[in-house]
Amino acid sequence: MKDFNYGLNRPPTVGQLLQLCSEALESSGVFFGHGTDNAWDEAVLMVLFIADLPLDSGESVLALFVDDETVARLEELMRRRIVEREPLPYLLGRAWFAGLEFICDRRAIIPRSPIAELILNGFEPWYSGPAPKRILDLCCGGGCIGLAAAYQFPGARVDLIDIDAGALELAEENTRYLKLQDRTSIIQSDLLESVVGTKYDLILSNPPYVDAPDLAAMPAEFHHEPEDALGSGVDGLDLTRRILSSVCPFLASSGLLILEVGNSWLALEEAYPRLPFTWVQFERGGDGVLALTAQELQDYSAISGQLGL
Ligand SMILES: C[S@@+](CC[C@H](N)C(=O)[O-])C[C@H]1O[C@@H](n2cnc3c(N)ncnc32)[C@H](O)[C@@H]1O
Repeated sequence: MKDFNYGLNRPPTVGQLLQLCSEALESSGVFFGHGTDNAWDEAVLMVLFIADLPLDSGESVLALFVDDETVARLEELMRRRIVEREPLPYLLGRAWFAGLEFICDRRAIIPRSPIAELILNGFEPWYSGPAPKRILDLCCGGGCIGLAAAYQFPGARVDLIDIDAGALELAEENTRYLKLQDRTSIIQSDLLESVVGTKYDLILSNPPYVDAPDLAAMPAEFHHEPEDALGSGVDGLDLTRRILSSVCPFLASSGLLILEVGNSWLALEEAYPRLPFTWVQFERGGDGVLALTAQELQDYSAISGQLGL
């Protein structure tokens, strides 16, 4: 890592620190993929956040001087980022998802699901029912998907389910942070086991889905995240199978399931050749997210029941 004391005027400017951090990140071989995908964007986020400057600051801030205490904090964060390979959102304690700011720490994975784009588009054209009144975020982690959906649909009640008490504590904190307590419920449950009788218009789920070989090969940054939130058996589909076999009774007749399976999409297609998955195309990147209507799931249950699949 580059020495901050070398070649820097004291006090340094925002512009100099941006240059230094971005070069150090670039040459260090750290992995990007927890909210940013390149060294410059990560440096901008880190320097502006630590210098307490607005994240949408323009070029006018480049000439501002940064005090010694802030430079020291930045040096420590850069050390943890490069030497310990901690992902940036854990270092900052904040993550951004679907245009909202979330509290973020190691109790849950870092928000990054492409489902954000679907939420911002109101699930068009996949959801064709009435304005959603009941939404479920199944496997909610820190709550980013369910809370962003609550924000997008002010007329909806949102349930957030996770099995992990720590993740649910964080989801609860985020609910208060975004002032959404009145329309949200936090529920500890093994998938849908504790849900009785509710019919949801939208069930949104980003469950653990990484298969065993991918889990073993993940860059160091991912090992700071809770392992139970990532892996799901040898082919990555243990949780997904359970969701597909149990979700149907909890969807309204015009309801929609949105389910993320990432790289395990091919294994899923092979495991369920008769399920008519729609794979969502994203403008902002990402893949492995499927949409299934309640009707498609019902038709499939009828056929699979008959054929004993
Ligand atoms: C990939 S993380 C997704 C977190 C969040 N939805 C997001 O997109 O950032 C998966 C979450 O599923 C939870 N989980 C794992 N097994 C579960 C189960 N059997 N029932 C409910 N939640 C479970 C984990 O605790 C973890 O928080």
